[in-house]
Amino acid sequence: MNNSGTTTPIQLSSKPTRPAGPSETGTRPNRTACIRTFGCQMNVHDSDRMRRMIRDAGYAEVQSYEDADLVVLNTCYVRENAVDRVRGHLGEINRLKREGRVKRVALTGCIGAASEAEQLERQYNIDLVLGTHNTYELASFVGLPTMEETYTPDLPGTEGDHSAFVTIMTGCNYQCSYCIVPTVRGRMICRPMDNIVSEVERLVESGTKYVTLLGQTVDAWRQDGKRFCDLLERVSEVAPRIWFTTSHPSNMEDRTLKAIGERETIVRRLHLPVQSGSDKMLKAMHRGYKADRYRRKIEVFREHVPDGTLSTDIIVGHPGETAEDHEQTLRLVEDCAFDSAYIFKFSPRKGTEAAELGGVVPDKVVQRRFLQVLRQVEQNAYAQNQRKVGSLEDIYIRHGSTDDGRSIGETWSGHAVHVGTNAKPGEYVEARIASAGPHVLYAEVPRS
Ligand code: 5AD
Ligand code: SF4
Repeated sequence: MNNSGTTTPIQLSSKPTRPAGPSETGTRPNRTACIRTFGCQMNVHDSDRMRRMIRDAGYAEVQSYEDADLVVLNTCYVRENAVDRVRGHLGEINRLKREGRVKRVALTGCIGAASEAEQLERQYNIDLVLGTHNTYELASFVGLPTMEETYTPDLPGTEGDHSAFVTIMTGCNYQCSYCIVPTVRGRMICRPMDNIVSEVERLVESGTKYVTLLGQTVDAWRQDGKRFCDLLERVSEVAPRIWFTTSHPSNMEDRTLKAIGERETIVRRLHLPVQSGSDKMLKAMHRGYKADRYRRKIEVFREHVPDGTLSTDIIVGHPGETAEDHEQTLRLVEDCAFDSAYIFKFSPRKGTEAAELGGVVPDKVVQRRFLQVLRQVEQNAYAQNQRKVGSLEDIYIRHGSTDDGRSIGETWSGHAVHVGTNAKPGEYVEARIASAGPHVLYAEVPRS
């Protein structure tokens, strides 16, 4: 899954629906809660659901721990520094709790499901620890009637917003050497198609303009002989704009790649994690494909979606990675000409196979390889983005304008664009691309 945990924690819904923080008269709303999200889009989605429960229970959302009666940390466990970062936050919250400001703390998400949770619970005096399968238990914790759920995707997510995530499957049946996800999220459970489609219909009726289908390996979704592409096609008839993430190369069917090019409502952007360009490393990682098979998938994508964007995940410094393996990754990056990539330095996760492997790559070498891959990706991305300069684009506004009057939007080809407009999130503007950097395009001011 495309993980943003390498940067600062994601703070979605930063605008509370009710007055946040100390009110103008200086008093605090009756009950306040602060939710902080770390990690991938699955977590962002889980946070949305918890946010809804908290609102339903009468809490006003606030942005800082100091203003909160209840703090929820929804955590990520993918890399070691994720735990360190959460410890930092827990220390600060615990101090506020001792001072009587914060009343209760909940730790949720992937760390909540891991064995370290017990120790954190004791050390930081945490009131509630939840894994990823029992998020719904937060309901009774905040005073709502208990929800009887078999698995969390059926909990309502964000409705009424311009864009929404819809979880189509949870867990993962792969056993990648380095990955903790199967341990904390369990085996794959696919949500029934009718259930998904009715949620999308409800969302669209309530004003959602953009639906993202979500799962650790979305393209592995199946039900009674139906496969992911059947679901994608169905949803593409219901939603005005859709995207999906994350996919696994072993499940990616050519007909899905064709559908991306053919169906007007599907954003022409593919996130397909490759992890390495070396067959030896792919084998050690148990990825289940060779580099050339991945290349062929990309050829099919480029053939059917010539103006589409392609992104990937790459791990550098997996145990046993030699200079030659690294060279092969650089070659693959060049051949596939990714438009962007999430590059991760290998991080040993306790309980995974790779954490026990010999052939540890020294930090300095990992750092050098990391920068080389990054440079290669950026060079390609920059050259490709230049080709968009001059084109007239239909831009979907994702985030409203900032102080400098720029909004962030997305083209149908999946490019991120900065555009000067007052259009609201969920609206479209037509504008010409004036220039491009390695990560983003810049549009002229739209005429209308
Ligand atoms: N070390 C480094 N990167 C990892 N990822 C998953 N586990 C690890 C790990 N132990 C990366 C993979 C995955 C992305 C979500 O995070 O590239 O695709
Ligand atoms: Fe982790 Fe591999 Fe499953 Fe992705 S496919 S979630 S990397 S085990």
